[in-house]
Amino acid sequence: MKISDSIPHSWAEPWKIKAVEHISLISQEERVEALTEAGWNTFLLRSQDVYIDLLTDSGTAAMSDVQWAAMMTGDEAYAGSKDYYYLEQTVQEYYGFKHLIPTHQGRGAEHLLSQCMIRPGQYVPGNMYFTTTKFHQTYAGGTFVDIITDEAFDPQSDFPFKGNVDLAKLQKLVDEHGAESIAYVSLETNVNMAGGQPVSMENIKALSEYCRSKKIAVMLDATRAVENAYFIKIREKGYEDKSIPEILLEICSYTDGCTMSGKKDCLVNIGGFLAINDDLLAEKARGLVVCFEGLHTYGGMAGRDMNAMAVGIQESVEYDYIRARVEQTRYLAQRIVDFGVPVVRPFGGHAVYLDIKQILPHVPQDHFPAQRFAGELYLEGGIRAMERGAVSAGRDGEGKNIFPELELVRLTLPRRVYTQSHLDVVSECVARVCARAKEMRGLRMIFEPQELRFFQARFEPQEG
Ligand code: F0G
Repeated sequence: MKISDSIPHSWAEPWKIKAVEHISLISQEERVEALTEAGWNTFLLRSQDVYIDLLTDSGTAAMSDVQWAAMMTGDEAYAGSKDYYYLEQTVQEYYGFKHLIPTHQGRGAEHLLSQCMIRPGQYVPGNMYFTTTKFHQTYAGGTFVDIITDEAFDPQSDFPFKGNVDLAKLQKLVDEHGAESIAYVSLETNVNMAGGQPVSMENIKALSEYCRSKKIAVMLDATRAVENAYFIKIREKGYEDKSIPEILLEICSYTDGCTMSGKKDCLVNIGGFLAINDDLLAEKARGLVVCFEGLHTYGGMAGRDMNAMAVGIQESVEYDYIRARVEQTRYLAQRIVDFGVPVVRPFGGHAVYLDIKQILPHVPQDHFPAQRFAGELYLEGGIRAMERGAVSAGRDGEGKNIFPELELVRLTLPRRVYTQSHLDVVSECVARVCARAKEMRGLRMIFEPQELRFFQARFEPQEG
């Protein structure tokens, strides 16, 4: 027997499975019927008809036994729940912000922040748009301006920090309109629409220095900040030996507050918060939270939800956890690339993004190629993905369709839910759909909601 010298050191999930949820693949005929009924929109499929659900990593995590235990000891008092104070203390410890205003989920916090900080006519520069974030900025009378680095628009660029802010773009905006015209800079970590791409600490620090010199606040979208911290640790010089909590605290220290969708990094099925340092702003937000979400000590969450989120935050920064999380995404991306399918590079933190402009170059963007591909993936193997292209981008202020540079299908990995065998099945399905890409045509939109159309729009195949 000869044992090789190059035996790999694989990683493995730092958990084992205690409860399982059954899933099954319905027949091809049933899938055709389900997709037709859903108007070719994967958001409109019933989850019972889905085999492997990669629609989103939002609220889809498996909680740990410790989190479930915390659910049982939740304090459901209307006011002053012990879990509010526990969550406040946890957010202070790991994110470093002074005031905590809980909300039912991320967009609740975005609503409060936008209403408190944006005066009509102001600009809100940010490193790429996110659908709900931009909606709330616009709804408050602001105008979003994209200041992300150009590398973010090139799916094949291997630049390690494609989430970075291009400071020259921000400076130009400030020079043209003055610092008073800027409501704040909206800084997203692990930029979702760019492919789950991180921001470097160097960039965050430089942004902070510039903004502080101009008295412009930097508000963080910390939804996936822990994943960003992991990328900083493995990619940025000087951070190799820092712990995830140290890196996370440093990121936050360069900003003035954050919105959080707890349904992602915080490993819970529902919840979010706004966390800020400024006392006056916190007072204003507390005034609004009671109108839109709930009393300022629960903000739309049950006591048990706050308790589970506090535990989730602590689990989310454990190195073995976050490594397995991001490396699982890399595993899926690599399998797909091995079949010759183009994906956004470098591989992101929470999802693999298929580069549909390359896969379906013959389908024009106004025939929604990514939406079509997501539908085909469901037909092929009951896999549910999400369009992140022209449908998600919506329309501009004049009502014209926005055609974004990136036309993507997102395969999003719920946290602690699927095994590598599930991912093998997914990668094979993707490859099979790609093998018949040449014959594929696009879709026609037959129903379009006014706001955030991707959630409820309906389509028909171009060929009828
Ligand atoms: N910010 C980012 C970066 C997000 O990805 C999301 C949600 C939100 C804010 C809003 O948070 O859903 O709790 O209200 N993203 C989900 C997704 C929906 O699938 O990417 P929410």
